[in-house]
Amino acid sequence: MATKVIVSLPGEDDYAVRIGVGVMSALGRNLREVGRFSQTKDALVITDSNVAPLYLAKTRESLAQVGFKVADIVVPAGEPTKSIEVAAEIWSAMAQLSLGRDCLVVALGGGVVGDLAGYVASAYMRGVPVVQVPTTLLAMVDSSVGGKTAVNLPEGKNLVGAFHQPSFVCADVDTLASLPEREWLCGFGEIAKSSAIDSDDFFFWMMDHAEALVAHDRETVAEAIARCVVFKADIVAQDKTESAGVRECLNYGHTLGHAIESSTGFGTFSHGACVAEGMRFAAFAAQGILADTDGGSLSDFAEAQAELLDLLGLHALDYDASIEELVAAMTHDKKSRGGEIRFVLASDVATWKIVGASPDTVRDLLREWRERA
Ligand SMILES: NC(=O)c1ccc[n+]([C@@H]2O[C@H](COP(=O)([O-])OP(=O)(O)OC[C@H]3O[C@@H](n4cnc5c(N)ncnc54)[C@H](O)[C@@H]3O)[C@@H](O)[C@H]2O)c1
Repeated sequence: MATKVIVSLPGEDDYAVRIGVGVMSALGRNLREVGRFSQTKDALVITDSNVAPLYLAKTRESLAQVGFKVADIVVPAGEPTKSIEVAAEIWSAMAQLSLGRDCLVVALGGGVVGDLAGYVASAYMRGVPVVQVPTTLLAMVDSSVGGKTAVNLPEGKNLVGAFHQPSFVCADVDTLASLPEREWLCGFGEIAKSSAIDSDDFFFWMMDHAEALVAHDRETVAEAIARCVVFKADIVAQDKTESAGVRECLNYGHTLGHAIESSTGFGTFSHGACVAEGMRFAAFAAQGILADTDGGSLSDFAEAQAELLDLLGLHALDYDASIEELVAAMTHDKKSRGGEIRFVLASDVATWKIVGASPDTVRDLLREWRERA
């Protein structure tokens, strides 16, 4: 069973996201059905050292079967690979392979490979097409759709990048069979986020299906991915370049989440666990900032969201970072403006607002939040 979601963005060609069990074997055939690739000869698969032994041969075979001349580049797995140095090595390799403007880049892997390969494609010969073949749940539900590509600098994450939409996305749920549990949690965090921001329908569907997701039921996982892609495509269609104040809602839970990640040392907790903690705090802070009610108690929404996160195994975090460290990290976040920390706050399902809060306000809220825990 496969689902196809069409992403339609203003000023861009529509593209399809194919989601399902075993869809990777049809990748080559599906690409030949995309008009611009009907005659394409050269395909370069970029993947990482963990994914290559698992899915590179299958991907190459699917492409070669329909006549693509396939080359591949395997980069070391892990966030440090998302660098300008690795991007430059790939550009050189592409030139040495004599790849022209008519080549196709295939990003096979998680968000690291997707962001890196997408950025490489955005700039090589002023832009060649990229196809995303996400193999982590996070990449399937979030990073492979929407066109944000980037590499990191020593000064910060994602500081150099481009908007470069993929021409096709292939999310094969079968590839998740090899995914470590911690990476599943990263995906669950983003799915929970999307459901809370999207609609009652998605949020309560999640409540009903959390158990099946945790059990990795493939059809349920495929449906959750499809729901996230439909949600994200709709948000990106309203605000392709994050300039209209809509796309920022995708950062729900991420302001405190990123601060916990950096204050406790990246990798101490999974990204999903940190985002979940950020969502709990954002729902709590919404009461003080949006509804101007006393802190201390949790709204029905905050309670329901906490229940969903618990069901997904994203329990409240016990972490070792001082309020000052967290506030400092949030103040330095690239999304803060004019000294204010920017949060997406949600007071109910699908009821959110982007607000700027002074470091003092955030300090007080964090103190109240800690006291009630
Ligand atoms: N572009 C966007 O819109 C966007 C959105 C969210 C996150 N991101 C970026 O995504 C990155 C994180 O992505 P991620 O969580 O996928 O991390 P990742 O790409 O590092 O993958 C996580 C780990 O899982 C391994 N892996 C991947 N697929 C596997 C599989 N099927 N089986 C076994 N192991 C597998 C990888 O090798 C890696 O070790 C960050 O750099 C983040 O900035 C981008």
